[in-house]
Amino acid sequence: MKVIVSEHVGFCFGVERAVKKAERMLDNRGLSNYSVGPLIHNPQTIEKLTEKGLRIVNRIEQIKNGRLIIRAHGLRPELLSKARAKNIEVVDSTCPFVKKVQEASCRLVKQGYAVIIAGDKNHPEVKSIGGFTDEKAMVAAGPSDLDKLNLNKSRKIALLAQTTQSNSNFQAIINKLVSKGHFEELRIFNTICRATVVRQREARSIAQKVEMMIIMGGRLSANTKRLAGICKEAGVETHHVEAAKDIKPSWFRKKRSIGLAGGTSTPAWVIKQAADRLKKVYTDDHRRGKLTAHSL
Ligand code: F3S
Repeated sequence: MKVIVSEHVGFCFGVERAVKKAERMLDNRGLSNYSVGPLIHNPQTIEKLTEKGLRIVNRIEQIKNGRLIIRAHGLRPELLSKARAKNIEVVDSTCPFVKKVQEASCRLVKQGYAVIIAGDKNHPEVKSIGGFTDEKAMVAAGPSDLDKLNLNKSRKIALLAQTTQSNSNFQAIINKLVSKGHFEELRIFNTICRATVVRQREARSIAQKVEMMIIMGGRLSANTKRLAGICKEAGVETHHVEAAKDIKPSWFRKKRSIGLAGGTSTPAWVIKQAADRLKKVYTDDHRRGKLTAHSL
């Protein structure tokens, strides 16, 4: 059995930065450290951080005499103001690429553009961007959502992307928007993060060469879900799992080639554990004579 592991695994720049900042704060005894919502979308990392003392809350009001570490996806500005009004120390771990989308959306709204974000309206990153535009930014998850937006009176339109958006969906939204064509000006900002693009490209390429893909990463991680979606679109059996122990031997017993990839918030050690598990089950099966010529 051949296992092809994606070249780019482990934390992206923004996640690594947020986790390192949090670890520094947690090592620095004194104030209690809080994040509103999980700092990143990876359960294993969150478990380690909470063991070290990070407290995850849903509301600023739950923070008592502590320090707020802003998650990599960013925080809505009114929550930030609330924290500052309560004299809560703030450590900003918003990924700089997310920050760029927040600032650009805010500026474009002020310049009179109807701003559309290609993304998931319930994702914390998109919610934070909405906050920076006083809820004026509209959100389209896919091309069909454009029909639901009130764009008829908009002469100037600006389209931006959630950083973990797929190129193909963004392109489909652009095509549909252009075909509507009732506006005078359309500005397109490709704000899809490069780390996301590289991993999507690699996952697609591996998916075309193997019989099954395993995508490792948090269930809530948008970019991990997107990777799994891309592999399914490529027509290959795909499983999205959070931990190596969730990989079922029955999935791959008769497979000759398996691809392994992970989201930008999946630690490299989780991928290593998954590769080790595949190897171990395969070797054990081999010893017990469970493998047939076909499975080899
Ligand atoms: Fe930032 Fe891109 Fe990672 S937006 S959090 S570097 S996926």
